[in-house]
Amino acid sequence: MALPWVLAVLSLLPLMDAHSPLCANLTAVPITNASLDRISGKRFYIASALRDPEYKKASMEISADFFYLAPNKTEDKIELREYQTIKDKCVYNFSYLNVQRENGTISKYEGGKEHYAQLVLLKDPKIFIFAFFLEDEQNRGLTFYADKPEATEEQLEEFYEMLACAGMLKSEVVYTDIKKDACEPLEKQHKKEEEERRKEKDSKEDT
Ligand SMILES: *[C@@H]1O[C@H](CO)[C@@H](O)[C@H](O)[C@H]1NC(C)=O
Ligand SMILES: *[C@@H]1O[C@H](CO)[C@@H](O)[C@H](O)[C@H]1NC(C)=O
Ligand SMILES: *[C@@H]1O[C@H](CO)[C@@H](O)[C@H](O)[C@H]1NC(C)=O
Ligand SMILES: *[C@@H]1O[C@H](CO)[C@@H](O)[C@H](O)[C@H]1NC(C)=O
Ligand SMILES: *[C@@H]1O[C@H](CO)[C@@H](O)[C@H](O)[C@H]1NC(C)=O
Repeated sequence: MALPWVLAVLSLLPLMDAHSPLCANLTAVPITNASLDRISGKRFYIASALRDPEYKKASMEISADFFYLAPNKTEDKIELREYQTIKDKCVYNFSYLNVQRENGTISKYEGGKEHYAQLVLLKDPKIFIFAFFLEDEQNRGLTFYADKPEATEEQLEEFYEMLACAGMLKSEVVYTDIKKDACEPLEKQHKKEEEERRKEKDSKEDT
């Protein structure tokens, strides 16, 4: 009888012991060059569970979101090119994130203050989580990213496990929807411009 066992395991999930080895990555792990390599490149914002009212409100307005992370390991900064779809409109932003290696955090200066997120790596190297205010039950939150616009069942399961570790519920999760993306044309245009710049540079170097 496999079923009762499965049910028993599932019902235990929301009570996951935050000290279990499965939850270890949720307690500040220092950021290394290897972790920066792991998160670099194109990523899609898949889902979030946020209790901080300001973060929650912002997350509800985002219907789709993808971005490029380009870490500079000597400067401990990450170049961020973000394509957010907010209320059917594409909003593009270029900015830099700051890395606090020892604290395991990555931060962004926005709205007059620095916002800190703890970087949480998972078993699958293609996905990662940002955790916010974990020590604060009223305001804690997690945001989940993958290298494809839709995460696999296994990847979502890893997110749900961390959610349980953080003492949060699946019912708190808000998902993005890539079908609502309005940024693809702009990304295409940016790629084309970059290609043209590269060609120009190459032809200059040839002469
Ligand atoms: C990192 O930043 C330094 C200082 O601005 C710069 O010299 C270097 O080229 C950058 N490295 C990369 C890989 O962009
Ligand atoms: C991390 O990478 C930077 C840039 O490649 C390098 O200068 C630095 O020594 C590396 N740090 C470690 C601990 O390997
Ligand atoms: C992002 O870009 C939009 C439009 O270009 C701008 O209104 C907004 O202030 C920017 N947001 C940030 C956080 O830079
Ligand atoms: C790391 O965290 C400690 C304690 O919160 C803080 O005092 C320190 O400024 C942080 N370091 C960096 C580089 O952010
Ligand atoms: C914790 O992070 C490491 C990468 O630093 C990863 O190899 C490991 O599988 C992660 N553990 C869990 C339980 O996700």
